[in-house]
Order: sequence, then structure tokens, then C-alpha cells
Amino acid sequence: MITEEDIPVIAVDGPSGSGKGTVCRLLARELGWNLLDSGAMYRLVGLAARNHGVRLDNHAALDVLAGHLDVQFRPGEDTAEARVILEGEDVSQLLRSEEVGALASEVAAVPAVRASLLRRQRAFKIRPGLVADGRDMGTVVFPEAQFKVFLTASADERARRRYKQLKDKGEAVSLPRLVADIEARDRRDTERSVAPLRAAPDAVTVDTTGMGIQEVFELLMAEVKERGML
Ligand code: DC
Repeated sequence: MITEEDIPVIAVDGPSGSGKGTVCRLLARELGWNLLDSGAMYRLVGLAARNHGVRLDNHAALDVLAGHLDVQFRPGEDTAEARVILEGEDVSQLLRSEEVGALASEVAAVPAVRASLLRRQRAFKIRPGLVADGRDMGTVVFPEAQFKVFLTASADERARRRYKQLKDKGEAVSLPRLVADIEARDRRDTERSVAPLRAAPDAVTVDTTGMGIQEVFELLMAEVKERGML
């Protein structure tokens, strides 16, 4: 009998700008597996808090928001990101903004929010398999994952990638400000007491500084094949 334990999971963790999002989308598309963008969930809670005027130090209210998110994910075409509908509004673009990223990082440090989102995240583990993108996929949410990856890159390189992304979208940004923001977010994500950002002991660490996304994708696909996960 095939049990839930047998459903293959690739857990990909790492800091912002390490290339996780794109690589996870490519892997999920190639394998035909489900994709969990767990960062989007924290971004949604941050955005919902802002929309409802909930202060970020009101943990009880944040817990309620996280538990009752009215959200739908509509798959994007090809490698495009999924459309995200929050309370009937398409927030896909807004969700990726620096402002919402900063809110997400703050609500992600609230233990009740993390506990609330845990069940929702685990529900993404369905046949034929799951590619899970986040900060604690291999350490907390899917410790049983057959393949754990920790993707990283230097802060400068991650800021440059983010700078290019934002410029391509027509957003006005300053590179030194992005480096400072990335370093601040890394600090918050790695130093928080619940589920801090760190590599699982059994994760394969890949430093993507100087690597193209296709190269990273091919490296991980080769590993997936080697592990007999196909
Ligand atoms: O991956 P991202 O930039 O969309 O994540 C937004 C924030 O959410 C990030 O600052 C860290 C937090 N996060 C988290 O704490 N745990 C996850 N599994 C995913 C994201």
C-alpha cells in the first residue's frame, strides 16, 4: 500500500534571492509535481494584516488572520508565477513587493502564525509529489523529505538579482538599500527563535553565486534522478 510517507518531497530552503522560487517552479513543472510557495503564505498574512489594520504586535489577531485566510492559488502559464487571489482581489503583483516582503518577515517571527500555517502547508503534500519552497521546509514542515536542498548566494549577488527583477518590473529601487534590506531580513530570519532559517543537517547546500538558474536546475534534476525519485 502506498502511504503518505511514500509521496516524494523535495524541500528547498534558503534566503531571499537565492533563486529558490524560480528553481522550484522549474522542478515542479519538469516533474509534474505540486508546488508550495510557503513564503507567499507569510506574505498573505502580512498583507491581510495591513488590509485589516491589524498591528503586527497583536499576535492573537494575527493568529486568527492566518487561520482564516480566504485565498485561492490559480496556476500560472508555463513558468509564470501562480495568480494569488486574497478575499476576491488579485494580489499577485502586490504580494511580491518589498513592502509586503518586510511585513511577511515580521509576521513569520510570530509562533502562533507559524503554527497556524503548518497544517495548510502540509496539505500540499499530495501525489505524485511536492516541491516545497521556503525557509523551514526541510527542518520543520517536511522533515521526512527525501531530498533537502539549501540554496544560498552572497548578499551582494542576491541584491543584484532582486534589483534586476524590480527594475524589469519598472519599480524604482536603490541597490545599496536592497543590500541593506536583504541583510536585515536575513538577520531576522536566521535569528528568530521559532523555525529559524538554517540548513537541515541532511541538506545538500548549493552556493549559487555566479551560477545561472538553468545550471542550478540541471544540478538538482541530476540529483533527483540519482536518488531514484522519478
Ligand atoms: O520567500 P519569500 O521572500 O516570499 O518569504 C517572505 C518572508 O516569509 C521571509 O522574510 C521569510 C518568511 N518565510 C518563513 O519564515 N518561512 C517560510 N517557510 C517561508 C517564508
